[in-house]
Amino acid sequence: MTILIPGANSAKLAGHVARLSKFNLVNAERKLFPDGDQYVRLTKEIGGGDDVFVLGSTWPNQDSALFELMLLADAAAKSGAKTVRAIIPYMSYSRQDKKFLEGEPLSLDVILRALKSAGVSSILTIDSHFMRSSSMEAITTIERCGMEITSLSAYPLLLEKVTSMVKRPVIIAPDKSMEAPLKKFGEVLVIEKSRDRITGKVSAVEKLYPVDGKDVVLVDDMISAGGTMIKAAQLLSKSNPASFTACCTHGLFVEGADKRMIDAGITRIVSTDTIEGKYSEVSVAQIIADAILDA
Ligand code: R5P
Repeated sequence: MTILIPGANSAKLAGHVARLSKFNLVNAERKLFPDGDQYVRLTKEIGGGDDVFVLGSTWPNQDSALFELMLLADAAAKSGAKTVRAIIPYMSYSRQDKKFLEGEPLSLDVILRALKSAGVSSILTIDSHFMRSSSMEAITTIERCGMEITSLSAYPLLLEKVTSMVKRPVIIAPDKSMEAPLKKFGEVLVIEKSRDRITGKVSAVEKLYPVDGKDVVLVDDMISAGGTMIKAAQLLSKSNPASFTACCTHGLFVEGADKRMIDAGITRIVSTDTIEGKYSEVSVAQIIADAILDA
């Protein structure tokens, strides 16, 4: 039997994937001890021959969400599951896949090792930040810290949705690293963005873009505080586009980022349900179901 165990952040998405894949959902009872320690207990027995997927995005509350996934994985492994794999649609700490400044940790690797020690043998994720240079393909697999990681892409679904909503779409990569994943959808205009590693402030090369009268479609892997999209909107508005759509796979919208984006002239925001929220107009359930049915 194949079993899907939902993490707290992805209950709805896990239900959707279970319906599509016809895998059995096993929920967990959860509580917090008075001192804040987490407790989980699987509500159904896992048999010795079962293949288990724990499915949860690790945002919001990234640290407790990550730890919860590890507890769920360990509970499944200790119940005798044959395999334990993780589906982490949005994986926090993915942006710290390198040391950018002296003295920094490799946060991503810490997480991979921790998940491995909890019994996870592979990870399925979506539009992973650290695998995006090679994510022109719909599915990319790498090995890192002894963990097999597969990244699926939601960009085809997002672009299909967003470009059908406007008349004269022009695809914009809000920074250089999004050029490769977007190129296969046609011509891409790239904004030369940079970020101050200490202050986090976003800046971009000022110039005019050929978007006059067109419907700008900005595509990014994630929107966090919105600085990247706001900078792009400020820059492009000088070239008189007809409309501004900002879309992303992972919509965190930290501290009212969506409101600040709308105030900056962005007319439409679309994200997927890797993080469930009010802009989740595109579901990644089908691509996850297809991938795990093939696995
Ligand atoms: C950066 O390389 C990422 O792809 C995103 O552009 C960035 O993380 C978005 O963050 P924010 O919304 O805070 O600008």
